[in-house]
Amino acid sequence: MSAPDGTSPDPEPGPEAGPEAGPDTGAEAGPEAAAEVGFAGQGVVVTGAGRGIGAAVARAFAAAGARVVVNDLDGDAARAVAADCGGTALPGDAASVDGIAALVDAARTVLAREGAELDVWCANAGVAPVGGADAPVAAWTAAWEVNVLAHVRAADLLLPRWLERGSGRFVATVSAAGLLTMLGSAPYAVTKHGALAFAEWLAATYRHRGLRVHALCPQGVRTAMLASTGAVGEALLAPTALEPAQVAATLLDALAADRFLVLPHPEVADYATARAGDPDRWLAGMNRLQRQLEQEGAL
Ligand SMILES: NC(=O)c1ccc[n+]([C@@H]2O[C@H](COP(=O)([O-])OP(=O)(O)OC[C@H]3O[C@@H](n4cnc5c(N)ncnc54)[C@H](O)[C@@H]3O)[C@@H](O)[C@H]2O)c1
Repeated sequence: MSAPDGTSPDPEPGPEAGPEAGPDTGAEAGPEAAAEVGFAGQGVVVTGAGRGIGAAVARAFAAAGARVVVNDLDGDAARAVAADCGGTALPGDAASVDGIAALVDAARTVLAREGAELDVWCANAGVAPVGGADAPVAAWTAAWEVNVLAHVRAADLLLPRWLERGSGRFVATVSAAGLLTMLGSAPYAVTKHGALAFAEWLAATYRHRGLRVHALCPQGVRTAMLASTGAVGEALLAPTALEPAQVAATLLDALAADRFLVLPHPEVADYATARAGDPDRWLAGMNRLQRQLEQEGAL
């Protein structure tokens, strides 16, 4: 089975490409900015929020006073989370063209009734298919649809209003796999890189027009997705896995601090730096890990 997050064998920082690298760090937000951001009365949609990380994010926003719309393919699960946190359930597919359009429309209507706008979109729904180049086309397509195109389609519908009024917040649940890789799951690793690339592109393109973008990139989180990863997840992720509520709390802190990259496992920053600074060394380490997992029968 694949695991739902990125892994890295080599936590040593490389000599370059540290957090300062790049044309503009954009790190303008200080404590005062953090204090100014409040979520009371904000309209928030969380996709894939019937369980796991999405459910925790919905609960955290609700606890911060936001008006929350809880989406999931699983209607009963969405209704249970919504009832629990005082939100509104809008079950359905948050990836297809028609599903996203219906969700955006319905969410705007529901939030308007509560005197709110659609201020924050959390593109959280995700799938983690297994396999490599030989994975079925359907698995690649599902990963592409849910992990990447869902984000693109939502942004396409949300941007006109957000740019018109000069504010909006797009939260992409990516994964450390989007910064690193995921042994055992090429579709997951590739599409999570795509999700991160799209989030970066959005931030680079629209920051000056009031759009705020955040990419949530955890390693293991104790959810049904992690439980489904079997021996690989057990070996690579379980030891440092976090609870969904911890991840949600880190996310809300990062939003308040206006940070793009949200790393509930801070060591992922070192792994990413090592990968960027010495890709060959990093890849050699990843391949060592692959061979170890093969020997253990996990892959
Ligand atoms: N669990 C981890 O270790 C981990 C680590 C890093 C990133 N992530 C990412 O976090 C996100 C949430 O993962 P999770 O662990 O909570 O998973 P999960 O499988 O426990 O929950 C995902 C939810 O999304 C829903 N969903 C799937 N496709 C959907 C669609 N098209 N429309 C609406 N809902 C849909 C599912 O029904 C499910 O309730 C995913 O994007 C995942 O890739 C998870």
